[in-house]
Amino acid sequence: MNRENAPSAPDGTYDVYPAQANSEPWTRLEGWLHLERLVRGVMDRYGYVEVRPPMFEHTGLFHKSTGEVTDIVEKEMFTVPHKGEAGDRDSFTFRPEVTPGAVRLLVQNGLFKVRNLWKVWYLGPAFRYEKPQKGRHRQFSQIGVEAAGSGDPLLDVETIAVYVDILKAAGIARFDLRLNTMGCRDCRGAYREALKAYVAPTLAQRCENCRRRFERNVFRVLDCKKDSALNEAAPGAADHVCGPCKEHFAAVRAGLDLAGIAHRVDKRIVRGLDYYTRTVYEFSSAALGAQDALGGGGRYDTLVGSMGGPEVGAVGFAAGVERLFIAMEAEKAAVPPPPAPDFYAIAADEASRKEAFRAAQALRAAGLSGDLDFEARSVKAQMRSANRLGARYAVILDGAEVAAGKVRIKKMDGGEERSVPLPEAASILRGGQP
Ligand code: HAM
Repeated sequence: MNRENAPSAPDGTYDVYPAQANSEPWTRLEGWLHLERLVRGVMDRYGYVEVRPPMFEHTGLFHKSTGEVTDIVEKEMFTVPHKGEAGDRDSFTFRPEVTPGAVRLLVQNGLFKVRNLWKVWYLGPAFRYEKPQKGRHRQFSQIGVEAAGSGDPLLDVETIAVYVDILKAAGIARFDLRLNTMGCRDCRGAYREALKAYVAPTLAQRCENCRRRFERNVFRVLDCKKDSALNEAAPGAADHVCGPCKEHFAAVRAGLDLAGIAHRVDKRIVRGLDYYTRTVYEFSSAALGAQDALGGGGRYDTLVGSMGGPEVGAVGFAAGVERLFIAMEAEKAAVPPPPAPDFYAIAADEASRKEAFRAAQALRAAGLSGDLDFEARSVKAQMRSANRLGARYAVILDGAEVAAGKVRIKKMDGGEERSVPLPEAASILRGGQP
Protein backbone atom coordinates (compact mmCIF):
# COMPACT_ATOMS: atom_id res chain seq x y z
CA MET A 1 0.00 0.00 0.00
CA ASN A 2 1.41 3.41 -0.81
CA ARG A 3 1.37 6.16 1.80
CA GLU A 4 -1.40 8.11 0.11
CA ASN A 5 -4.10 5.56 0.67
CA ALA A 6 -2.91 4.43 4.11
CA PRO A 7 -5.79 4.79 6.59
CA SER A 8 -6.01 7.86 8.80
CA ALA A 9 -8.34 8.71 11.69
CA PRO A 10 -11.14 11.19 10.90
CA ASP A 11 -10.49 14.89 11.55
CA GLY A 12 -11.36 15.92 15.05
CA THR A 13 -10.48 12.53 16.57
CA TYR A 14 -7.19 11.38 18.04
CA ASP A 15 -5.43 8.28 19.32
CA VAL A 16 -4.17 7.67 22.85
CA TYR A 17 -0.87 5.78 23.22
CA PRO A 18 2.27 5.77 25.38
CA ALA A 19 3.79 9.25 25.27
CA GLN A 20 6.36 10.00 22.60
CA ALA A 21 8.56 13.07 22.20
CA ASN A 22 6.37 15.94 20.94
CA SER A 23 3.11 14.00 21.21
CA GLU A 24 0.11 16.20 22.05
CA PRO A 25 -0.77 16.18 25.76
CA TRP A 26 -4.24 14.67 25.23
CA THR A 27 -2.81 11.67 23.36
CA ARG A 28 -0.57 10.52 26.23
CA LEU A 29 -1.73 7.35 27.87
CA GLU A 30 0.15 8.15 31.10
CA GLY A 31 -1.81 11.39 31.45
CA TRP A 32 -5.12 9.58 31.02
CA LEU A 33 -4.27 6.92 33.59
CA HIS A 34 -3.15 9.60 36.05
CA LEU A 35 -6.25 11.75 35.51
CA GLU A 36 -8.64 8.80 35.74
CA ARG A 37 -7.06 7.80 39.05
CA LEU A 38 -7.19 11.25 40.55
CA VAL A 39 -10.76 11.91 39.39
CA ARG A 40 -11.92 8.63 40.94
CA GLY A 41 -10.17 9.64 44.18
CA VAL A 42 -11.96 13.03 44.30
CA MET A 43 -15.35 11.46 43.47
CA ASP A 44 -14.89 8.86 46.23
CA ARG A 45 -14.11 11.60 48.73
CA TYR A 46 -17.38 13.38 47.89
CA GLY A 47 -19.57 10.26 47.69
CA TYR A 48 -20.32 10.45 43.95
CA VAL A 49 -20.89 7.05 42.29
CA GLU A 50 -19.95 6.23 38.71
CA VAL A 51 -22.53 5.67 35.97
CA ARG A 52 -21.95 4.51 32.42
CA PRO A 53 -24.81 5.39 30.06
CA PRO A 54 -24.41 4.26 26.43
CA MET A 55 -22.52 6.27 23.81
CA PHE A 56 -25.68 6.77 21.75
CA GLU A 57 -29.30 7.43 22.66
CA HIS A 58 -32.56 8.05 20.82
CA THR A 59 -32.16 11.41 19.08
CA GLY A 60 -35.34 12.73 20.69
CA LEU A 61 -33.67 12.67 24.10
CA PHE A 62 -31.32 15.47 23.05
CA HIS A 63 -34.03 17.45 21.28
CA LYS A 64 -36.11 17.44 24.45
CA SER A 65 -33.35 18.08 26.97
CA THR A 66 -30.32 19.76 25.40
CA GLY A 67 -32.85 21.83 23.45
CA GLU A 68 -34.07 22.44 19.88
CA VAL A 69 -32.62 25.93 19.57
CA THR A 70 -29.05 25.14 20.54
CA ASP A 71 -25.92 24.92 18.40
CA ILE A 72 -25.55 21.33 19.53
CA VAL A 73 -28.95 20.12 18.32
CA GLU A 74 -29.16 22.43 15.30
CA LYS A 75 -25.77 21.67 13.81
CA GLU A 76 -23.50 19.42 15.77
CA MET A 77 -25.11 16.04 16.25
CA PHE A 78 -23.76 12.76 14.90
CA THR A 79 -27.05 11.15 14.02
CA VAL A 80 -27.51 7.69 12.52
CA PRO A 81 -30.82 6.54 11.03
CA HIS A 82 -32.14 3.32 12.49
CA LYS A 83 -32.49 0.39 10.14
CA GLY A 84 -36.14 -0.27 10.65
CA GLU A 85 -35.96 -2.61 13.64
CA ALA A 86 -39.28 -2.97 15.40
CA GLY A 87 -39.53 -0.72 18.43
CA ASP A 88 -37.17 2.02 17.21
CA ARG A 89 -39.13 5.22 17.32
CA ASP A 90 -36.35 7.43 16.35
CA SER A 91 -32.89 7.82 14.84
CA PHE A 92 -29.90 7.41 17.15
CA THR A 93 -27.47 10.15 18.12
CA PHE A 94 -23.99 9.73 19.53
CA ARG A 95 -24.19 11.69 22.76
CA PRO A 96 -23.06 15.30 22.33
CA GLU A 97 -23.11 15.56 26.14
CA VAL A 98 -23.76 13.08 28.93
CA THR A 99 -26.30 14.91 31.14
CA PRO A 100 -29.47 13.75 29.28
CA GLY A 101 -28.30 10.11 29.24
CA ALA A 102 -27.28 10.20 32.90
CA VAL A 103 -30.66 11.60 33.96
CA ARG A 104 -32.48 9.10 31.75
CA LEU A 105 -30.44 6.32 33.36
CA LEU A 106 -31.55 7.41 36.86
CA VAL A 107 -35.21 7.63 35.90
CA GLN A 108 -35.45 4.57 33.64
CA ASN A 109 -33.81 2.29 36.17
CA GLY A 110 -36.11 3.40 38.97
CA LEU A 111 -33.24 4.68 41.05
CA PHE A 112 -35.26 7.48 42.64
CA LYS A 113 -37.44 4.78 44.20
CA VAL A 114 -34.35 3.55 46.02
CA ARG A 115 -33.07 6.92 47.17
CA ASN A 116 -34.19 10.56 46.80
CA LEU A 117 -30.80 12.04 46.04
CA TRP A 118 -28.30 10.61 43.56
CA LYS A 119 -24.80 12.00 43.14
CA VAL A 120 -23.28 10.40 40.05
CA TRP A 121 -20.17 10.95 37.94
CA TYR A 122 -18.93 9.85 34.54
CA LEU A 123 -15.88 10.01 32.34
CA GLY A 124 -16.19 9.16 28.69
CA PRO A 125 -16.44 10.32 25.11
CA ALA A 126 -18.92 12.80 23.67
CA PHE A 127 -19.39 13.69 20.00
CA ARG A 128 -20.00 17.06 18.36
CA TYR A 129 -19.73 17.83 14.66
CA GLU A 130 -17.77 21.04 15.15
CA LYS A 131 -14.91 22.55 13.22
CA PRO A 132 -11.85 20.97 14.83
CA GLN A 133 -9.19 23.20 16.34
CA LYS A 134 -6.93 23.14 19.38
CA GLY A 135 -9.07 22.10 22.34
CA ARG A 136 -12.06 21.41 20.11
CA HIS A 137 -12.54 17.88 18.83
CA ARG A 138 -15.36 15.93 17.25
CA GLN A 139 -14.83 13.07 19.62
CA PHE A 140 -13.75 14.52 22.95
CA SER A 141 -14.07 13.29 26.52
CA GLN A 142 -15.98 14.74 29.40
CA ILE A 143 -15.65 14.29 33.12
CA GLY A 144 -18.88 15.28 34.79
CA VAL A 145 -21.15 14.99 37.78
CA GLU A 146 -24.91 15.15 38.14
CA ALA A 147 -26.41 15.60 41.60
CA ALA A 148 -30.13 14.96 41.24
CA GLY A 149 -32.81 15.10 43.93
CA SER A 150 -32.36 18.40 45.76
CA GLY A 151 -32.71 22.12 45.25
CA ASP A 152 -30.28 22.98 48.05
CA PRO A 153 -27.92 25.78 46.95
CA LEU A 154 -25.13 24.05 48.88
CA LEU A 155 -25.38 21.22 46.36
CA ASP A 156 -24.58 23.73 43.59
CA VAL A 157 -21.56 24.72 45.67
CA GLU A 158 -20.54 21.10 46.16
CA THR A 159 -20.46 20.37 42.41
CA ILE A 160 -18.21 23.40 41.96
CA ALA A 161 -16.00 22.27 44.86
CA VAL A 162 -15.64 18.84 43.23
CA TYR A 163 -14.24 20.43 40.08
CA VAL A 164 -12.00 22.82 42.02
CA ASP A 165 -10.55 19.77 43.80
CA ILE A 166 -9.99 17.97 40.48
CA LEU A 167 -8.19 21.01 39.09
CA LYS A 168 -6.01 21.28 42.19
CA ALA A 169 -5.23 17.55 42.24
CA ALA A 170 -4.26 17.81 38.56
CA GLY A 171 -1.85 20.65 39.37
CA ILE A 172 -3.90 23.42 37.72
CA ALA A 173 -3.77 26.52 39.89
CA ARG A 174 -4.74 29.20 37.38
CA PHE A 175 -8.41 29.21 36.51
CA ASP A 176 -11.39 31.54 36.72
CA LEU A 177 -14.86 30.69 37.95
CA ARG A 178 -17.71 32.84 36.67
CA LEU A 179 -21.26 32.52 37.80
CA ASN A 180 -24.71 33.70 36.80
CA THR A 181 -28.35 32.83 37.33
CA MET A 182 -30.88 32.03 34.61
CA GLY A 183 -33.89 32.37 36.89
CA CYS A 184 -36.72 29.87 36.89
CA ARG A 185 -39.73 29.17 34.66
CA ASP A 186 -41.68 31.82 36.60
CA CYS A 187 -39.30 34.73 36.22
CA ARG A 188 -37.35 34.01 33.07
CA GLY A 189 -40.03 35.50 30.85
CA ALA A 190 -39.69 38.93 32.48
CA TYR A 191 -35.93 38.85 32.08
CA ARG A 192 -36.27 37.73 28.45
CA GLU A 193 -38.49 40.72 27.74
CA ALA A 194 -36.09 43.14 29.45
CA LEU A 195 -33.20 41.76 27.42
CA LYS A 196 -35.16 41.89 24.16
CA ALA A 197 -36.07 45.52 24.82
CA TYR A 198 -32.37 46.28 25.27
CA VAL A 199 -31.16 44.33 22.23
CA ALA A 200 -33.90 45.34 19.74
CA PRO A 201 -32.59 48.87 18.94
CA THR A 202 -29.06 47.49 18.30
CA LEU A 203 -30.14 44.59 16.12
CA ALA A 204 -28.99 46.13 12.83
CA GLN A 205 -25.42 46.42 14.20
CA ARG A 206 -25.27 42.82 15.37
CA CYS A 207 -23.82 39.74 13.68
CA GLU A 208 -26.03 37.45 11.66
CA ASN A 209 -25.93 34.75 14.32
CA CYS A 210 -27.21 37.16 16.98
CA ARG A 211 -29.97 38.49 14.75
CA ARG A 212 -31.17 34.92 14.42
CA ARG A 213 -30.75 34.25 18.12
CA PHE A 214 -32.76 37.35 19.00
CA GLU A 215 -35.97 35.65 18.00
CA ARG A 216 -35.23 32.12 19.05
CA ASN A 217 -33.02 32.35 22.13
CA VAL A 218 -32.15 35.92 23.04
CA PHE A 219 -30.00 34.93 26.04
CA ARG A 220 -27.31 33.56 23.70
CA VAL A 221 -26.83 37.10 22.31
CA LEU A 222 -25.00 37.78 25.56
CA ASP A 223 -22.23 35.27 24.99
CA CYS A 224 -21.44 36.43 21.46
CA LYS A 225 -17.74 37.26 21.27
CA LYS A 226 -18.13 39.51 18.21
CA ASP A 227 -20.78 41.78 19.70
CA SER A 228 -19.47 41.97 23.25
CA ALA A 229 -19.14 45.80 23.18
CA LEU A 230 -22.86 46.09 22.45
CA ASN A 231 -23.63 44.00 25.50
CA GLU A 232 -21.77 45.98 28.10
CA ALA A 233 -24.84 47.83 29.34
CA ALA A 234 -27.22 44.88 28.85
CA PRO A 235 -29.42 44.02 31.83
CA GLY A 236 -28.11 41.08 33.85
CA ALA A 237 -30.36 38.25 34.97
CA ALA A 238 -29.28 38.57 38.60
CA ASP A 239 -31.16 41.89 38.84
CA HIS A 240 -34.31 40.68 37.09
CA VAL A 241 -35.08 37.26 38.51
CA CYS A 242 -37.72 36.61 41.19
CA GLY A 243 -37.17 36.77 44.95
CA PRO A 244 -36.63 33.02 45.52
CA CYS A 245 -34.16 32.86 42.60
CA LYS A 246 -32.28 35.86 43.99
CA GLU A 247 -32.14 34.17 47.39
CA HIS A 248 -30.87 30.96 45.82
CA PHE A 249 -28.15 32.84 43.96
CA ALA A 250 -27.09 34.70 47.11
CA ALA A 251 -26.95 31.40 49.01
CA VAL A 252 -24.74 29.82 46.32
CA ARG A 253 -22.38 32.78 46.47
CA ALA A 254 -22.28 32.67 50.28
CA GLY A 255 -21.61 28.91 50.09
CA LEU A 256 -18.70 29.49 47.72
CA ASP A 257 -17.27 32.02 50.17
CA LEU A 258 -17.71 29.47 52.93
CA ALA A 259 -15.79 26.91 50.87
CA GLY A 260 -13.09 29.49 50.10
CA ILE A 261 -13.76 29.37 46.35
CA ALA A 262 -13.11 32.65 44.53
CA HIS A 263 -15.67 33.54 41.88
CA ARG A 264 -17.27 36.46 40.13
CA VAL A 265 -20.70 37.14 38.72
CA ASP A 266 -20.77 37.49 34.95
CA LYS A 267 -24.06 38.22 33.19
CA ARG A 268 -22.62 36.86 29.93
CA ILE A 269 -22.62 33.30 31.29
CA VAL A 270 -25.86 32.00 29.76
CA ARG A 271 -24.70 28.52 28.68
CA GLY A 272 -25.57 27.00 25.34
CA LEU A 273 -28.00 24.34 26.58
CA ASP A 274 -31.69 24.71 27.27
CA TYR A 275 -32.27 22.85 30.50
CA TYR A 276 -30.65 25.28 32.92
CA THR A 277 -32.55 26.99 35.71
CA ARG A 278 -31.07 29.26 38.35
CA THR A 279 -27.32 28.78 38.82
CA VAL A 280 -25.06 28.54 35.78
CA TYR A 281 -21.28 28.57 35.95
CA GLU A 282 -18.18 28.28 33.83
CA PHE A 283 -14.53 27.61 34.52
CA SER A 284 -11.99 29.08 32.14
CA SER A 285 -8.23 29.11 31.80
CA ALA A 286 -6.04 31.67 30.08
CA ALA A 287 -3.75 28.75 29.12
CA LEU A 288 -6.33 27.45 26.64
CA GLY A 289 -6.43 30.17 23.96
CA ALA A 290 -9.63 30.57 21.93
CA GLN A 291 -11.37 27.51 23.40
CA ASP A 292 -10.95 28.69 26.96
CA ALA A 293 -13.86 26.87 28.66
CA LEU A 294 -12.33 24.40 31.07
CA GLY A 295 -15.75 23.21 32.15
CA GLY A 296 -19.25 24.39 32.79
CA GLY A 297 -22.52 23.46 34.37
CA GLY A 298 -25.44 24.55 36.40
CA ARG A 299 -28.78 23.68 37.90
CA TYR A 300 -31.59 22.08 35.93
CA ASP A 301 -34.65 21.80 38.14
CA THR A 302 -37.16 20.58 35.56
CA LEU A 303 -35.24 17.95 33.59
CA VAL A 304 -35.73 14.96 35.91
CA GLY A 305 -39.49 15.59 36.06
CA SER A 306 -39.69 16.11 32.30
CA MET A 307 -38.32 12.60 31.79
CA GLY A 308 -40.98 11.03 33.99
CA GLY A 309 -38.97 11.11 37.22
CA PRO A 310 -39.93 12.94 40.40
CA GLU A 311 -40.15 16.76 40.29
CA VAL A 312 -36.78 17.29 41.93
CA GLY A 313 -33.99 19.78 41.47
CA ALA A 314 -30.61 18.80 40.06
CA VAL A 315 -27.25 20.35 39.33
CA GLY A 316 -24.06 19.26 37.61
CA PHE A 317 -21.10 20.14 35.43
CA ALA A 318 -18.94 18.66 32.70
CA ALA A 319 -15.36 19.40 31.73
CA GLY A 320 -13.37 18.62 28.62
CA VAL A 321 -10.53 16.24 29.41
CA GLU A 322 -8.36 17.40 26.47
CA ARG A 323 -8.50 20.95 27.79
CA LEU A 324 -7.48 19.73 31.23
CA PHE A 325 -4.39 18.18 29.65
CA ILE A 326 -3.58 21.42 27.82
CA ALA A 327 -3.86 23.39 31.07
CA MET A 328 -1.80 20.79 32.93
CA GLU A 329 0.96 21.07 30.36
CA ALA A 330 0.87 24.88 30.49
CA GLU A 331 1.32 24.70 34.27
CA LYS A 332 3.97 21.99 34.00
CA ALA A 333 1.90 19.70 36.21
CA ALA A 334 3.67 16.45 37.01
CA VAL A 335 2.32 13.22 35.55
CA PRO A 336 3.69 10.18 37.37
CA PRO A 337 5.37 7.60 35.11
CA PRO A 338 3.67 4.23 34.70
CA PRO A 339 4.70 1.69 37.35
CA ALA A 340 7.97 -0.09 36.55
CA PRO A 341 7.82 -3.86 35.87
CA ASP A 342 9.26 -6.17 38.51
CA PHE A 343 11.44 -8.14 36.08
CA TYR A 344 12.71 -8.65 32.58
CA ALA A 345 13.47 -12.29 31.76
CA ILE A 346 16.63 -12.71 29.70
CA ALA A 347 17.61 -15.77 27.69
CA ALA A 348 21.41 -16.14 27.62
CA ASP A 349 21.25 -18.32 24.50
CA GLU A 350 18.79 -19.59 21.94
CA ALA A 351 18.20 -22.84 23.83
CA SER A 352 17.10 -20.94 26.96
CA ARG A 353 14.37 -18.87 25.28
CA LYS A 354 11.66 -21.36 26.15
CA GLU A 355 12.93 -21.44 29.74
CA ALA A 356 12.83 -17.63 29.89
CA PHE A 357 9.23 -17.76 28.74
CA ARG A 358 8.40 -20.42 31.32
CA ALA A 359 10.11 -18.42 34.10
CA ALA A 360 8.22 -15.26 33.09
CA GLN A 361 4.93 -17.16 33.22
CA ALA A 362 5.74 -18.57 36.67
CA LEU A 363 6.68 -15.12 38.00
CA ARG A 364 3.50 -13.58 36.55
CA ALA A 365 1.48 -16.38 38.15
CA ALA A 366 3.13 -15.37 41.43
CA GLY A 367 1.69 -11.87 40.99
CA LEU A 368 4.80 -10.16 39.60
CA SER A 369 4.85 -8.04 36.47
CA GLY A 370 7.39 -8.41 33.73
CA ASP A 371 8.30 -8.87 30.12
CA LEU A 372 10.78 -10.71 27.93
CA ASP A 373 12.29 -10.71 24.46
CA PHE A 374 10.37 -12.01 21.44
CA GLU A 375 12.92 -11.10 18.79
CA ALA A 376 15.77 -13.53 19.60
CA ARG A 377 18.06 -10.62 20.39
CA SER A 378 21.51 -10.69 22.04
CA VAL A 379 21.89 -10.64 25.81
CA LYS A 380 23.19 -7.08 25.55
CA ALA A 381 20.09 -5.96 23.64
CA GLN A 382 17.84 -7.74 26.15
CA MET A 383 19.63 -5.92 28.97
CA ARG A 384 19.01 -2.64 27.18
CA SER A 385 15.27 -3.45 27.07
CA ALA A 386 15.31 -4.25 30.79
CA ASN A 387 16.87 -0.83 31.39
CA ARG A 388 14.56 1.03 29.06
CA LEU A 389 11.48 -0.44 30.74
CA GLY A 390 12.88 0.38 34.18
CA ALA A 391 12.57 -3.27 35.33
CA ARG A 392 13.63 -3.75 38.93
CA TYR A 393 15.30 -7.10 38.25
CA ALA A 394 16.80 -9.01 35.35
CA VAL A 395 16.04 -12.72 35.60
CA ILE A 396 18.64 -14.50 33.50
CA LEU A 397 18.26 -18.03 32.16
CA ASP A 398 21.13 -19.98 30.70
CA GLY A 399 21.69 -23.65 29.96
CA ALA A 400 23.89 -24.55 32.95
CA GLU A 401 21.61 -22.86 35.45
CA VAL A 402 18.46 -24.23 33.92
CA ALA A 403 19.96 -27.73 34.20
CA ALA A 404 20.52 -27.07 37.92
CA GLY A 405 16.91 -25.83 38.29
CA LYS A 406 17.98 -22.28 38.96
CA VAL A 407 17.75 -18.75 37.54
CA ARG A 408 20.15 -15.87 37.98
CA ILE A 409 18.68 -12.65 39.30
CA LYS A 410 20.26 -9.24 39.16
CA LYS A 411 18.99 -6.04 40.69
CA MET A 412 19.05 -3.53 37.87
CA ASP A 413 20.23 -0.63 40.00
CA GLY A 414 23.67 -2.13 40.42
CA GLY A 415 23.04 -5.24 42.54
CA GLU A 416 25.05 -8.45 42.59
CA GLU A 417 23.92 -11.44 40.57
CA ARG A 418 22.68 -14.46 42.52
CA SER A 419 21.65 -17.94 41.44
CA VAL A 420 18.47 -19.14 43.13
CA PRO A 421 15.65 -21.61 42.46
CA LEU A 422 12.71 -19.95 40.68
CA PRO A 423 10.27 -19.99 43.66
CA GLU A 424 12.91 -18.24 45.76
CA ALA A 425 13.42 -15.68 42.96
CA ALA A 426 9.70 -14.91 43.12
CA SER A 427 9.76 -14.26 46.84
CA ILE A 428 12.91 -12.13 46.58
CA LEU A 429 11.33 -10.05 43.81
CA ARG A 430 8.15 -9.67 45.86
CA GLY A 431 9.96 -8.71 49.02
CA GLY A 432 12.35 -6.48 47.15
CA GLN A 433 15.42 -8.01 48.88
CA PRO A 434 18.68 -8.29 46.96
P1 HAM B 1 -20.83 22.13 27.79
O1 HAM B 1 -20.47 23.50 28.23
O2 HAM B 1 -21.47 21.98 26.48
O3 HAM B 1 -21.73 21.51 28.93
O4 HAM B 1 -19.52 21.23 27.79
C1 HAM B 1 -18.74 21.10 28.95
C2 HAM B 1 -17.27 21.15 28.61
O5 HAM B 1 -16.94 20.18 27.62
C3 HAM B 1 -16.79 22.45 28.01
O6 HAM B 1 -16.57 23.43 29.00
C4 HAM B 1 -15.50 22.02 27.35
O7 HAM B 1 -14.46 21.93 28.33
C5 HAM B 1 -15.82 20.63 26.87
N1 HAM B 1 -16.16 20.60 25.44
C6 HAM B 1 -17.35 20.90 24.86
N2 HAM B 1 -17.28 20.74 23.52
C7 HAM B 1 -16.03 20.31 23.25
C8 HAM B 1 -15.33 19.93 22.04
N3 HAM B 1 -15.91 19.95 20.85
N4 HAM B 1 -14.03 19.56 22.15
C9 HAM B 1 -13.43 19.52 23.36
N5 HAM B 1 -14.02 19.84 24.51
C10 HAM B 1 -15.31 20.24 24.46
C11 HAM B 1 -22.24 20.25 28.93
O8 HAM B 1 -21.88 19.39 28.17
C12 HAM B 1 -23.23 19.98 30.04
N6 HAM B 1 -23.68 18.59 29.92
C13 HAM B 1 -22.60 20.26 31.39
C14 HAM B 1 -23.54 19.95 32.52
C15 HAM B 1 -23.57 18.84 33.27
N7 HAM B 1 -24.49 20.75 32.95
C16 HAM B 1 -25.14 20.14 33.95
N8 HAM B 1 -24.58 18.99 34.14
